[in-house]
Amino acid sequence: MDKVRLGMIGGGSGSFIGAVHRKAAALDACYELVCGAFSSQADNCQQTGLSLGLDASRCYADWADMLVQEAARPANERMQAVSIVTPNHLHAPQAIAALKRGFHVILDKPIAMSLVEARAIQAAAQASGCNLALTHTYAGYPMVKEARQWVQQGRLGTIRKVLVEYPQGWLATAMEQLGQKQATWRTDPARAGAGAIGDIGTHAAHLAEYVSGLRICELCAELNSVVTGRQIDDDAAALLRFDNGASGVLVATQVAAGEENNVRIRVYGELGGLDWSHADASSLRWVRPDQPVQIHRAGEGYLSAAATNNTRLPSGHPEGFIEAFANIYRAFALVLQDNAETRSDTLASNGHDYPSIAEGLRGMAFIEAMQASAQSTQKWTPVKL
Ligand SMILES: NC(=O)c1ccc[n+]([C@@H]2O[C@H](COP(=O)([O-])OP(=O)(O)OC[C@H]3O[C@@H](n4cnc5c(N)ncnc54)[C@H](O)[C@@H]3O)[C@@H](O)[C@H]2O)c1
Repeated sequence: MDKVRLGMIGGGSGSFIGAVHRKAAALDACYELVCGAFSSQADNCQQTGLSLGLDASRCYADWADMLVQEAARPANERMQAVSIVTPNHLHAPQAIAALKRGFHVILDKPIAMSLVEARAIQAAAQASGCNLALTHTYAGYPMVKEARQWVQQGRLGTIRKVLVEYPQGWLATAMEQLGQKQATWRTDPARAGAGAIGDIGTHAAHLAEYVSGLRICELCAELNSVVTGRQIDDDAAALLRFDNGASGVLVATQVAAGEENNVRIRVYGELGGLDWSHADASSLRWVRPDQPVQIHRAGEGYLSAAATNNTRLPSGHPEGFIEAFANIYRAFALVLQDNAETRSDTLASNGHDYPSIAEGLRGMAFIEAMQASAQSTQKWTPVKL
């Protein structure tokens, strides 16, 4: 199959996630990076692009110019999809412009700054017929896909309780006052939109819905700005109600001093429960009454196709964050390459699924409900699309 010709907006030297996207795109030889507008600084754009082996003529100083110039290239050369890995306030304008010019989009979360913006992205995608993948990374892990299968197979019975947490500690001090690049825009309401709830709470909410197959329909939230002088939430918690009547708890905090990226989800049904943790991402724990605990491991022959098809190595060779991203990238490439065997139903049943605009809309509705609930005295607030 031909590689998808990929461009990138953001991801210049000194940034975080752009390089992870590039490594993920390269992992299965599904993509070829052909161009980029990697930074708001022209010299960084050029330097980053050249260091990646790009032709100087395709290292653009301005992302809007890149879209115009790439669209004007011959069809067999031009960029086909663009990865957008910029601060949140740029997601909607950049994604909409790319979609309008006929480019598929791989966008990092949160999809936008508001539900209104997310709807505008949806409208642009519908009008252009282009696809969008939203990189909720944790849905790319094989044992998260296995967990989802267990729920779908009914192994846990009717789901009653979902506990999801994402504690981080890197913003436990005022990193933004030291000029730390990633902290500076993440704590600026004008560029981040939301703090901990947008940055990591959306991952937790997505994971809860992805694994349980349920939808959060109502929540009761508390948001805090713990670090003195911070203008945005850095600590969040909520009680959740799901559409089948199950309840849940979500914690997303960036001030848990000493914690890394310790995402964990536990789901309990009437027959038993599952437990997945990012710190031990190759394991999935199964608990049942009057039964010994079982620990299922990535790469083993007893796993579902969904897990197996998203694992590259035999068991005991740990795979991680880049591979989880790569699973999203590969699933998206399979759709773009439009192979007869890769119709979305077949892909999804084989575990080649990826979050998209629907999940982005839900993420924005979650953020807006969290903010409304935190300010309300009535507290329980619907998650409304
Ligand atoms: N899925 C995940 O697990 C995950 C992890 C980290 C970050 N993210 C998301 O990725 C996005 C980027 O986060 P980050 O930590 O890499 O930020 P970062 O600050 O490290 O990088 C942002 C990049 O965008 C570039 N940029 C800014 N304005 C630009 C413009 N006008 N034109 C072109 N480039 C421009 C910057 O120069 C920089 O290269 C955010 O939306 C964040 O929420 C997702």
